Amino acid sequence: MAAADAPVPELQARANACAERLLDADRVLLASHIDADGLTSAAVASTALERAEIPFETVFEKQLDAESITGIAERGYETVLFTDFGSGQLDIIAEHESAGDFIPVIADHHQPANPETTYHLNPLLEGIDGASELSGAGAAYVLARALAQASDTDDPLDNRDLAGLAVVGAVGDMQASGGQLHGANAGIVEEGVDAGVLEEIKDLAVYGKQTRPIPKLLEYATDVRIPGITNDKRGTISFLDGLDVACRADDAWKRWVDLTDDERQTVASALVQHAISRGVPAFKIDRLVSTTYILTEESQGTELRDASEFSTLLNATARYERADVGLAVCLGNRTAALDQARELLRNHRRNLSEGIEWVETHGVTTEDHLQWFDAGEEIRETIVGIIAGMSMGADGVSRDIPIIAFARKNDTETKVSGRGTGPLVSRGLDLSVVMREASQAVGGDGGGHDVAAGATIPTGEEEAFIDHADRIVGEQLG
Ligand code: C5P
Ligand code: C5P
Ligand code: ZN
Repeated sequence: MAAADAPVPELQARANACAERLLDADRVLLASHIDADGLTSAAVASTALERAEIPFETVFEKQLDAESITGIAERGYETVLFTDFGSGQLDIIAEHESAGDFIPVIADHHQPANPETTYHLNPLLEGIDGASELSGAGAAYVLARALAQASDTDDPLDNRDLAGLAVVGAVGDMQASGGQLHGANAGIVEEGVDAGVLEEIKDLAVYGKQTRPIPKLLEYATDVRIPGITNDKRGTISFLDGLDVACRADDAWKRWVDLTDDERQTVASALVQHAISRGVPAFKIDRLVSTTYILTEESQGTELRDASEFSTLLNATARYERADVGLAVCLGNRTAALDQARELLRNHRRNLSEGIEWVETHGVTTEDHLQWFDAGEEIRETIVGIIAGMSMGADGVSRDIPIIAFARKNDTETKVSGRGTGPLVSRGLDLSVVMREASQAVGGDGGGHDVAAGATIPTGEEEAFIDHADRIVGEQLG
């Protein structure tokens, strides 16, 4: 096969094997994870299955563990396709496979547990980083491309139109580190650009360019704090009013997308000048501009047009037990499902800002090598990881050591989320190992990526968990 036909050549052999297996199946159970990456993985995989005329059904799981895998086995499908999880639970899955319960096909990017299995597509098995170079949706995309090529469809794009969803998944998993996607992800972007579904542009690195009024866009951007702008409504308005750009139409503020290219350039340059004059250091100034991924077929001014806004919209559904709504939006529903997703997004936004405020108010406890907080029932366990990550760098929360967060799952179990940074990973941090080992030491289980991982532990074991985690992080950072 020509290299041009293989989005990630290193994975092609595995993708082909998985595709062949799926094409041999009478019907498939597709199981995926409940976050933006899991939803886009499911959307990519289900579209590909449908186009290949393979009957299937889709289920979502908050977490793949012995119990949920048993539930999956009981549905009686001969073939189960796992996307955005499965690798980390291979030990359990392999037992079901040996027992003849089902044949697993896995398209994932999490740290694999032993043993190996026959139909297993995971970047980490081929030396590609699963935390920064390929997402679950990316792995599903590689599979979708192989499926198109192995089945005789007359689709000239061979599923390359699904690259937009793959990019939403990668962005949702925070893989655009340093402002853009790299490695295998960048290869997928290229295919999407060629297929005409994606565009990449250098633009201001702020969230909400499609939907937020310009002052809110600037005021709420906290990644790079700019005195007189960040969290400063009056300062932001006076900054904008001082420019020779019409940021208002009649009485209403425009959105970033309503400005012309020249106007955007003017505002961005002025913002950089303003930041420099207020003493923002050069390395942070660089972070003010990044690559924005545009889904060209979506309408201007909607959450769906910008990969970052799209991924937040999806998290707002799946992390609130409404994966069905997010999946419907991914699959093209622009009416009832989109309205409902927007409603859920308002709720999600409120929860995120209240959560970060809670962390700032209550503070974190600092150990030798990490910092942590226990939100109890104050923060929903499905978003506590997002909040832990967003709170790094907020008032009183350091970016120099990893953060661990607890939230109550139910009467007996506590959810743990860990988040690090790129520089910490370069120094040796691997939170997937921290989460797995520290949780297993207290009777729980966990895993994930080097930079972001999670676990479930028995309630009451939080302090013991921290002791183990602190020691392991200390060993890793040497
Ligand atoms: O299970 P999954 O891989 O989809 O989840 C990845 C999680 O890790 C996301 O919630 C994402 O926010 C987080 N992450 C992060 N920073 C990174 C990579 C991932 O916070 N650099
Ligand atoms: O839940 P949270 O967003 O903190 O998850 C971070 C990463 O850790 C995700 O990739 C998730 O799939 C993984 N994780 C895991 N096992 C758990 C909990 C989370 O592999 N028990
Ligand atoms: Zn993922």
